[in-house]
Amino acid sequence: MSAPFLVAKGIAKRFGALTALSGVDLDIRSGEVLALLGDNGAGKSTFIKILAGAHPQTEGELKIEGRPVAFSSPKDAAAAGIATIFQELALSENLSIAENVFLGRELKRSVLGVPFLKRKEMRDRVDALLTELDAHISDPEAPVGSLSGGQRQAVAICRALNLNARLVIMDEPTAALAVAETRKVLSLTRRLAARGCAVVLISHNIADVFEVADRMVVFRRGRKVAERVKSATNPEEIVSLITGAHPDVRALEKT
Ligand SMILES: Nc1ncnc2c1ncn2[C@@H]1O[C@H](COP(=O)(O)OP(=O)(O)OP(=O)(O)O)[C@@H](O)[C@H]1O
Ligand SMILES: [Mg+2]
Repeated sequence: MSAPFLVAKGIAKRFGALTALSGVDLDIRSGEVLALLGDNGAGKSTFIKILAGAHPQTEGELKIEGRPVAFSSPKDAAAAGIATIFQELALSENLSIAENVFLGRELKRSVLGVPFLKRKEMRDRVDALLTELDAHISDPEAPVGSLSGGQRQAVAICRALNLNARLVIMDEPTAALAVAETRKVLSLTRRLAARGCAVVLISHNIADVFEVADRMVVFRRGRKVAERVKSATNPEEIVSLITGAHPDVRALEKT
């Protein structure tokens, strides 16, 4: 197996007296979909916010391709190739798909010192990405406000790809989606991995996770309590790991 893209070691996060995470060790690999599971408040979002540079860890170390990294902002994480798609998505409704994909990093040319947007280049690039993702969106000029939830996820994924993200993190991307849209987003997740991205997916939907994830990690009360490759587990076991009924978790929680 190749070396992991990202290695987290001994990650802890405290908010005042509250310990949201402690002692989390995790490897994240390119070409793999890794699911993070756990009950409400288990620490999943806190963990990915650390990876995304949204807040610093209290303890522990992150390494990308063997080199220690310290993120002081989401910009630092983005520069290191990490794109995070939060549930709120942060797209601009009144801008087009292409404008959203290039937001903040528009392609420009200068004519006699006057900057002009390279609209056609941007539109063509977005068109190519949408086609590659098989997103079924025909017009990159359409306003994002006119899109469905699943199509918006596709736009957010395009933006991540356009940033050349090496790790794409998605926090409950299908929570608000209907069945057909969920299927689409799940297949986009697989496409990202097939493209060589590392993908981290947070989901409460066990069936979705079994469909797309290669590996599953369960968090409970701020600790990583289990890690399983899909072929070595089943939904019943994962549920018992999440609820704490599993003997491994009981043994761990005695310590
Ligand atoms: N900014 C914050 N300040 C204080 N406490 C926080 C903060 N963010 C998270 N927490 C606490 O940290 C713990 C872990 O929260 P987190 O959001 O990581 O859980 P989660 O696993 O993502 O849960 P969910 O499935 O409900 O999204 C919770 O007890 C939460 O109240
Ligand atoms: Mg969360």
